This record gives sequence, C-alpha cells and structure tokens, in this order.
Amino acid sequence: MAEKILEVKHLNAFYREGRQRKQVLEDVSFTLHEGEAVGLAGQSGSGKTTLCKCVLGLLKDYEGEIVHYTKRPQMIFQDPFRSLNPRKTIGWILEEPLRIQGGYSKDERRRKAEEMLKQVHLLPEIYARYPRELSGGQRQRASIALSLMTGTRLILADEPLSALDVTVQAQIIELLRELQEKEKICYLFVSHDLDVVSMLCSRVLFLKDGEVKEYADI
Ligand SMILES: Nc1ncnc2c1ncn2[C@@H]1O[C@H](COP(=O)(O)OP(=O)(O)OP(=O)(O)O)[C@@H](O)[C@H]1O
Ligand SMILES: [Mg+2]
Repeated sequence: MAEKILEVKHLNAFYREGRQRKQVLEDVSFTLHEGEAVGLAGQSGSGKTTLCKCVLGLLKDYEGEIVHYTKRPQMIFQDPFRSLNPRKTIGWILEEPLRIQGGYSKDERRRKAEEMLKQVHLLPEIYARYPRELSGGQRQRASIALSLMTGTRLILADEPLSALDVTVQAQIIELLRELQEKEKICYLFVSHDLDVVSMLCSRVLFLKDGEVKEYADI
C-alpha cells in the first residue's frame, strides 16, 4: 500500500452565523495516498471549499481529525491573483516562501525560483514580470510554481480551471498531470466538471449538503 499523505477522519465543520453555530460538513472521512489525486465534486454550497479550508487549517471550528503525513499542503484558486501579490514581481513572489523559511542565499533563492518557472514551462523572463503582465494561463502556472516552492507534495485546487478558456484549461491539466507523474504531486481537486476530474483523478468524492454521498473510482 502506498504511503499516506493525508487522512481526514469524521470531520464536522461549522461556521458562526450570528449566535448560531451552523454545521456545513458532517462526518467526512477519506484518505489520500502517495501519487493519488482525489476529485471533489458536488453542487454549489455542498461544502467543497469548506473541506479545503479545513485541510489547510484555515477553518478552526471543526471536530474530527485531520492528519498530515507530509509538509503543509498548498492551495491554488480559481483566480490566481489571490495568491500573487500585485505589487511584487513573479520572482520575488516565488522566493518569498524561501525567505520565510530562511537559510537560502540570494543566489540560491533565485536559482530555485528559476528552476520552478522551468518546471511549470514559463520562460525565464517571467521572473521579472508583475502578475498583471501575465496571461490567465501564465498566472495559473505561476501560482502552481508558488505552491511547489515550499516543497509540498499535496496541492489543493479549488476550481483552478474555471476562469480559463478551454485550450488553456487543457494545457494546465497537462501540467498538473506531468507534475503528478514526475514529481509525485498529489491533488485534492475541486471541480464541477467530471470530465476534467476524470483526466486527473482516480477517485472522486461527491459531497451533498456537507456529507459524503459517494466515494467512487472514476
Ligand atoms: N464564511 C462563511 N460563513 C458562513 N457560512 C459559510 C461561509 N462560507 C461558506 N458558508 C456556507 O457553507 C456551505 C458550504 O459552502 P462552500 O463554500 O464550502 O461550498 P462549495 O461546495 O465550495 O460551493 P461552490 O461550488 O459554490 O464553490 C454553504 O451553505 C455556504 O453558504
Ligand atoms: Mg467553493
């Protein structure tokens, strides 16, 4: 059996609404193993983003257990602007996790950022550009590069393709697949589009009203 990457056990999650505590996930359990990509599907409001937030540690009000067996996961969003600081160059943004981590020289940081640009098939000159100077597809590649800078093996992707047109979508899926194969990156991949899910994921978790309706091979 492959190594475990993430285990979610009997997860209940809550939001506060005025004085009420509103439950939005109920008894959600699943395990993600090395090399695996799990799709997360279900209607709007079924709790997909909430589940990602819990896994990332952004939502504190939950019961159950979330066990990380590797480095903290990283998230990519529908709108890559959310993770790219508009006032900084792509190079600066990519180097930021290393600056925070510490222990890297200026040259080492630059080399790693350049390596990562190459890995997501962006040209070296993107290093000096600002996020607004990139196309939508380039921006999503940059945000994928950023998520990989921490050395994580688990990417949570919340509808990462829905702001892109169809040809660009196909290119980003191709990149995600390549990273899956070459770098053994795992995904928790939120999408309404089961065709897209089936290109990347071996299993899909269907949520309905915060509960797992089905956990099936795809
Ligand atoms: N910050 C919040 N405070 C209170 N309720 C929230 C909050 N965020 C989400 N909810 C509610 O929690 C439920 C699950 O929302 P969530 O965003 O996880 O759904 P989703 O499956 O990601 O939907 P979509 O496909 O539209 O992105 C919904 O009923 C939503 O209204
Ligand atoms: Mg959502």
